Amino acid sequence: MSDIITMVAPVNIAVIKYWGKRNEELILPLNDSVSATLDTNVMCAKTSVCVSPNFLEDEIWLNGVKESFSNERMQNCLREIKVRATVEKSVDDVFLSWKIHVCSENNFPTAAGLASSAAGYACLVSALAKVYKIKSDVSSIARLGSGSACRSVYGGFVRWHSGVKIDGSDSIAVQIADKSHWPEMHALILVVGDTKKKISSTKGMRISTKTSDLFQYRIQNCVPKRTEDICEAILAKDFVKFGEITMKDSNQFHAICLDSYPPITYMNDISNKIIELIHKYNNFHGEIKVAYTFDAGPNACLYLLQNEVPKILPLIQHIFPSSNPDTFVTGLPTHCEMINTNLLELFAQSNQKDLVKYVIHTKVGDGPAEVTDGSHLLDESGWPI
Ligand code: DP6
Repeated sequence: MSDIITMVAPVNIAVIKYWGKRNEELILPLNDSVSATLDTNVMCAKTSVCVSPNFLEDEIWLNGVKESFSNERMQNCLREIKVRATVEKSVDDVFLSWKIHVCSENNFPTAAGLASSAAGYACLVSALAKVYKIKSDVSSIARLGSGSACRSVYGGFVRWHSGVKIDGSDSIAVQIADKSHWPEMHALILVVGDTKKKISSTKGMRISTKTSDLFQYRIQNCVPKRTEDICEAILAKDFVKFGEITMKDSNQFHAICLDSYPPITYMNDISNKIIELIHKYNNFHGEIKVAYTFDAGPNACLYLLQNEVPKILPLIQHIFPSSNPDTFVTGLPTHCEMINTNLLELFAQSNQKDLVKYVIHTKVGDGPAEVTDGSHLLDESGWPI
């Protein structure tokens, strides 16, 4: 039996959204996208993998439930890992023939638009790469699990190049800057709903690609310039520019969802209330201090610099009161400053509690890492603990 390898992998939240594929099987996108990778100490997927001649079949357990390994995307990842191991001659044929056990869990809600599949597949592929001793870039393999997963293979700020080749070999993620480049970049995730999303991203982008006219416009006229500009903003640590592009791109992505036929709505009234809050807040300060972005769900991800966190958090708590104020903010430690009274006057307190269920405070972090404290999810014989 092989050693048990356990890895953690991060969530990433895009600031230039990936939406639309040029090849569904190979998961090749129609546009480049850009994201920040978030700290695994706050949110992560954790995966243990081992191979053994004693296993009768490939088996996987996800969040405590045995799932089928026949899932096409999972099969594609495993197959490509083995192809790569063969090309790199990193393990022998006998080792390649052994069956595999995988046990994985997320420490945050699955399928709530919180990029859980990205962290999950990045973790699976990174752990497999370690077991099969693969040295080359594995972002193109993680991509086969879920497109956005390729960006979670690296830390810091990451660009997924759509590539032009038919075989997808140039559709890879590349790090723009590591986490130490802009350590002040924090994120607040406002969890509005943690139930499973209505329409999966895969299905949603298929509908948009086929039916939205605005979609074609976005790909041709907006994304290329925005991508270059936001990469520049990241390298120059220009938050105002970063924030403006982030918000505009999120808004355009959701406009495309509405322009799809039938229309797709991922955001809800609470999401819109959050957008209103951020614009009022930025207007009050005369410049962009906080930027929102929404994926395929109603939860908001706010990007902001560290010194802004104690200023906006009490305002969020004021507008979205919680019945559990002590546990409302999780993740990194936080403190709150007094809310500026002039600012407070702009906002009415909501009388309905728990519209925002909780807030996750996190920051930009590293890519996947091996867990070395022995806290595996598989026992010594390779079965779930
Ligand atoms: C809105 O990566 O989940 O989060 O490739 O079909 O698995 P598939 O889709 P997925 O799409 C993510 C879409 C998004 C935007 C983004 O993360 O760039």
